[in-house]
Amino acid sequence: MEHMGYPTRRLRRLRYHPGLRAMLAGVRLSVEELIAPIFIHETLTERREIPTMPGQFQRPVADAAEHAAGLASKGIRAVLVFGIPGSKDPAGTAAWAADGVVQRGIRAIKAAAPALLVIADTCLCEYTDHGHCGPLVELPDGRREVDNEAALAALAATAVAQARAGADVVAPSAMMDGQVKAIRGALDAAGFERTAILSYAVKFASTLYGPFRAAAESAPAFGDRRSYQMDPLSPIQVLAEARADLAEGADIIMVKPAANYLDVIAAVSTSLDAPLAAYHVSGEYAMLKYAAAAGALDEKAAVLEVTAAIKRAGADLIITYFAEALAEWLGG
Ligand code: PBG
Ligand code: ZN
Repeated sequence: MEHMGYPTRRLRRLRYHPGLRAMLAGVRLSVEELIAPIFIHETLTERREIPTMPGQFQRPVADAAEHAAGLASKGIRAVLVFGIPGSKDPAGTAAWAADGVVQRGIRAIKAAAPALLVIADTCLCEYTDHGHCGPLVELPDGRREVDNEAALAALAATAVAQARAGADVVAPSAMMDGQVKAIRGALDAAGFERTAILSYAVKFASTLYGPFRAAAESAPAFGDRRSYQMDPLSPIQVLAEARADLAEGADIIMVKPAANYLDVIAAVSTSLDAPLAAYHVSGEYAMLKYAAAAGALDEKAAVLEVTAAIKRAGADLIITYFAEALAEWLGG
């Protein structure tokens, strides 16, 4: 045999033995880093499957608490809660009501699973009747726009109400300038210095949130979110947004979406010294679910590969609708 043409370094030698492959796997998924979203519905009496998110449900408070306890028993450390209120108004006042749906949900989850970390999504789009992430103001030319300063006061009140109900972490997702500073100040003033902020700092105006908006009943009634969420084709603001939120007091930085934004995850994780959470969003979930249902992909293998890719890119924490399935597959 003539081996002249081969290089001395033969990389396949490291791939022949399955044991050696396993030893050399530098990326290992663990249930410890997963965060499971939960949708809590104020008026439902039984859980209801979300049509565009097979296997995901809107849940009444009691069911959400039971579900959370089940997740905890599988080794999941944290949940991210969203609320769908019974009534909406232009300002989104139900978001910060002491007995609002998320506040009730947090108390019930804490009672059912005391050790579970409860993270509350802090936004107004589920609570406003127009579906935008803050109250509106009419501009001189007649266009309506989210009023940044008015949104700050409402978001701060919401975060304090969530902390008062027992949230360990609040997660502002409205993409208003100054929201982390406003929330940090309000939490501290109310005596919640230990409540952490997981900031949706790097959040793109993505079409991949479509299924979520059906789940959270939060689609904007007019227009879109491009005046507050980032342009997917303009990465120039990525580090600026993340740094601004760290300077305002954010403890953990989120990048969202995740699997289609691995370059952004890598950039943030190599440039900044803060924990990074990546949100594998509803549309990314739906794509995998429907492809698997059609027989195009093996669901378990695909989910493990994609989730590990998010970790490989640099995520420390992964928010994923596959959290429960992963906990089972990883033997959590
Ligand atoms: C609320 C919010 C959204 C998501 C998380 N928080 C929707 C949006 O910004 O329209 C999306 C999550 C997902 O798609 O899974 N601001
Ligand atoms: Zn919102």
